[in-house]
Amino acid sequence: MVEARATEAQANIGVVGLAVMGSNLARNLASRAGNTVAVFNRSHEKTDTLLSEHPEAHFVGTTTYAEFAASLTKPRAALIMVQAGAGTDAVIDELVKVFEPGDIIVDGGNSLFTDTIRREKAVRETGINFVGAGISGGEEGALRGPSIMPGGSDESWVTLGPILESIAAVVDGEPCVTHVGHDGAGHFVKMIHNGIEYADMQLIGEAYDLIRRGTGKSPTEIADIFAEWNTGELESYLIEITAEVLRQVDTSTGKPLVDMILDQAGSKGTGVWTVQTALDLGIPVSGIAEAVFARSVSSKPAQRAAAAALPGPTASPVEDVDGFIEGVRQALYASKVIAYSQGFDAIVAGAEQYDWDIKKGEIAKIWRGGCIIRARFLNRITEAYAEDPSLVSLVTAPFFTDVVAKAQDSWRNVVADAAHAGIPAPVFASSLAYYDSLRADRLPAALTQGQRDFFGAHTYKRIDKEGVFHTLWSGDRTEIETEGSGH
Ligand code: 6PG
Repeated sequence: MVEARATEAQANIGVVGLAVMGSNLARNLASRAGNTVAVFNRSHEKTDTLLSEHPEAHFVGTTTYAEFAASLTKPRAALIMVQAGAGTDAVIDELVKVFEPGDIIVDGGNSLFTDTIRREKAVRETGINFVGAGISGGEEGALRGPSIMPGGSDESWVTLGPILESIAAVVDGEPCVTHVGHDGAGHFVKMIHNGIEYADMQLIGEAYDLIRRGTGKSPTEIADIFAEWNTGELESYLIEITAEVLRQVDTSTGKPLVDMILDQAGSKGTGVWTVQTALDLGIPVSGIAEAVFARSVSSKPAQRAAAAALPGPTASPVEDVDGFIEGVRQALYASKVIAYSQGFDAIVAGAEQYDWDIKKGEIAKIWRGGCIIRARFLNRITEAYAEDPSLVSLVTAPFFTDVVAKAQDSWRNVVADAAHAGIPAPVFASSLAYYDSLRADRLPAALTQGQRDFFGAHTYKRIDKEGVFHTLWSGDRTEIETEGSGH
């Protein structure tokens, strides 16, 4: 049974929810000088286990919300680390009962940012601060140093900032945490982080599939290729762990583990939210969307079984293996530029929509360490935004324009090779299509406008004069100027 060590106020931060993420964050907090951590879990066994396994840590075990509140110095600050959803609301309801105006409730789960906006508004009415904080880095990151994306009020940041900075990952002496913006801004940015994560992972999967099926190399040989890539411009956590996963041998069969894993990808929803939100904001996130769809396609076994007999090309093995692999690497880098460019476009649009003052350069900076998408590449993004904070598109930054200029021939060849070989590469291909759409001087949207005007009189604008027009398609086909929107 948890012996509440003391309930007089001695803890400067509290954690509610001691599953792996919560326990690891509590341990991380307790390991930092100056922190004493109050902990509470609905089932007391978890609290028991944490305290007994880490007797040296500055924990204050509590068994009720009242004890938990009493053990915290004011302004109280508590981190909720429970599965996002109804459980989050339940804990908020309990904390609101025992907290006072000026205290701070932080939701560290992967909550949908619109839920956070709703919660922040409701809790703020009690005088208590509510903060939605994206925390990235998984279980290991929680323990050793995550990237943290808190939203919430300026008042809450005064107390919370130093505490979060004490546990975040550090890159170039700077903690990977920043006050992202008010109410749901933190969870919004974490959602975009996860969307980019989906695209990153799918791109790596496509690169693996192309090399595996195009060259016949084994998972272990491909692991060596990824390990080599990880020493260069593609250096990143996801590339690093990919090599580890591909090297893993399944102990029960002696085969590569990756060949024994069922090829149906799951998802907890943050990628879907990113695409839904981007659609609402009118922002193309084609790479992220195709990554979400790729997971959906993989999880349709009945359709895949029925389609297995559909005709496809007989792929001939790649002749210039090294050249092909280098082409895939370059295509991966160029496609990654597009995925991040689109992700940051969504951040800009979200900030405008929700009136957040989000600094893109700061977000790139805190993504350099601790989070799942951490990568050398993020230094380049940080530099690009430092050079031009009002960059209209990341891909137009000189550094990235140069990256794509060098990569585009390979990029195009890889997309073409994949199509000819019948190997699906949806994020490679959609990223290239986005790039070509963005840079095109004329798009078939002109024809779309003509079609829409023909069947729906939706009107159109002209390139040679101001105004909005409609053609009398069912009459004498003369063009009239009209009051429509032209859109
Ligand atoms: C992180 C991870 C974390 C979690 C993902 C899993 O940033 O630490 O992204 O949030 O592992 O949500 O996402 P899916 O289950 O949707 O792949």
